[in-house]
Amino acid sequence: VDTIAFTRGVPAPECLPVEALADCARAAVERDGATILNYGPVAGYGPLREWVAERHGVTPDQVLVTNGSLQGLSLLAAVLVDPGTRVLVEGPTYDRALHIVARHGGEPHAVSMDDDGLDPDALELPAAFLYTIPTFQNPSGRTLSLERRRRLAELAREGRLLVVEDDPYSLVRYEGEPLPSIYQLAEGEGVVYSFSFSKIVAPGLRVGYLVAPVELVSRLEALAVQTYLTPALLPQATVHEFVSRELLESNVARVVGLLRERRDAMLEALEADLPDGASWSRPQGGYFTWLDFSEGTDAAELLARGEEQGVTFVAGRDFFPPGRGGDGSARLAYSFVSPAEIRIGAARLAALLREPRSSPVPV
Ligand SMILES: Cc1ncc(COP(=O)(O)O)c(C=O)c1O
Repeated sequence: VDTIAFTRGVPAPECLPVEALADCARAAVERDGATILNYGPVAGYGPLREWVAERHGVTPDQVLVTNGSLQGLSLLAAVLVDPGTRVLVEGPTYDRALHIVARHGGEPHAVSMDDDGLDPDALELPAAFLYTIPTFQNPSGRTLSLERRRRLAELAREGRLLVVEDDPYSLVRYEGEPLPSIYQLAEGEGVVYSFSFSKIVAPGLRVGYLVAPVELVSRLEALAVQTYLTPALLPQATVHEFVSRELLESNVARVVGLLRERRDAMLEALEADLPDGASWSRPQGGYFTWLDFSEGTDAAELLARGEEQGVTFVAGRDFFPPGRGGDGSARLAYSFVSPAEIRIGAARLAALLREPRSSPVPV
């Protein structure tokens, strides 16, 4: 059997605007080759930095354009996290963010969540910062409500909590009204904002950015110059060409159409196939749904059987600090697989849940 991988949080190949990017890359090199093929500013390609600054109503020196947004988050952690630093994260949260915090010796503490996102009453302050993905979260697909965004923005503005807002998915919205970012609500005070072109243009370009106070951006630049001298400027110039040609909006609409079909296929298949007792999030955008199995189901054991039966997912525990939860849950990514594959994968998952569990080894 061909395995249906609900593990891959990457766009389906048809989401990538290959021809438009080929044209933008050529135009960028022809126009600006002598600059972008050399070493250049560590904070990124000037015109893109200016475009970002204008988009967020800040000055270009508040913007750091990086090789993908994860690199920006990694630099940020290097500056903000020391051994023993307390960092608040959502429970569950993006697994790579957990690893980055751990690599610097920081201690991630998971804040509980419900369908409205993280619970602000569960924040245990003080902490060096809160890392949050408020919109169409990876891994849960959940979105932080407006009221809770306001509360976080208030804490940030009062100087009680530094919020790191990671926002790669907000434009990938299938329905409902867009919500303001925490960054917007706090008018930038006490919030570092991270964005990525991976989900709305192409991840292989590796272009993302951070918006932060000037002083923090300078510290990140100092670290970046020691690490990579200059980010890859050709992809940044390509993205700039893409947005200058006003291709972003139509591309987002196209990608949203392609992925909405997949989200719909996933939710319909789960509804039709899964036995009673399982429950899952109903994302209005993004790549993922979060599945809670019925009481007593061990996601790791189920995954081991799934690997034999041709369906895989990421076990929920990978998205929590070690031992802090997720044992009975899974992240299902629907962004890469086709609607037909989603239906087959969901049916296989349902069959696994109905099968009696492998009997324990007698002692
Ligand atoms: C929440 C979150 N942050 C950051 C990233 C990394 O994105 P980039 O490709 O911009 O490095 C991802 C990618 O999946 C993500 O899900």
